[in-house]
Amino acid sequence: ELSRLGASFGKPLAVAAETASTNDDARSAAAAGAPHGAAFLADAQTQGRGRGGRSWHSPPGENLYLSVVLRPSLPASRVAPIALVMGLAVASVIERRLAPLPSRGASADGSVVEVRLKWPNDVLAGGRKLAGILVEAQLRGESVSSVIVGVGLNVHASSFPPDLSARATSLAMLGIDDVPRELLAAELLQAIGDAAARFEAGELAPFAEDLARMDWLRGRRVEVAGVVGVAAGIDPEGHLLVRGADGILRAVAAGEVSVISS
Ligand code: BTN
Repeated sequence: ELSRLGASFGKPLAVAAETASTNDDARSAAAAGAPHGAAFLADAQTQGRGRGGRSWHSPPGENLYLSVVLRPSLPASRVAPIALVMGLAVASVIERRLAPLPSRGASADGSVVEVRLKWPNDVLAGGRKLAGILVEAQLRGESVSSVIVGVGLNVHASSFPPDLSARATSLAMLGIDDVPRELLAAELLQAIGDAAARFEAGELAPFAEDLARMDWLRGRRVEVAGVVGVAAGIDPEGHLLVRGADGILRAVAAGEVSVISS
């Protein structure tokens, strides 16, 4: 089953020099019947979108902008954690790229940069954002018509606009500038296809270990959706657990997390 999915995943593949947003391209294609695995890449986006209505810095020549159509056979009520799983898929590709050589991915003090997932799906390297993921589901009543997974990965960028520079990083800035975007796109497609198949088969259970290992927020003081406390892991539904000063553990389903202090 997995290999059957793997064989067609990433097909058809549309590559554009410039587009408004690859997520919009994927969404229109899905509405017109594009299959599971249909993929959209662009060198630049003029209206790249991030979560929470923010824009996504999308200049040409530097970074990777990829969107994929998924057609999971899951009820609408169970699809939300796929956003988390896609974060893990992207993080695992980056982790493999950073791992092989100790001199790579090293920060100024020589320590190896760790790849982590900031709930729900920011991929951080050395505490800075290396990739962002925008998951948009189209529901038809109780069922899922399609899920668009959009990945923005900073690859060759050597600097960022002032508002991002303290928070963002790229593979090049981490010392990896010899991996072509095409190869990264192929690795991401493979990881996204595999993760989608595993999620359909076992929901979050197959990812429990990776979720715990990759969880960047754990132990940090956070504020999310009006809840303040210490992040205490991710529950089997994919909700962020936060322990308040009153000792009570609350599960947060969605929201932007601010770290109060680490
Ligand atoms: C975020 O961290 O806020 C999510 C950023 C997602 C950016 C990617 S780039 C490819 C795809 N097309 C878009 O317009 N957004 C996603």
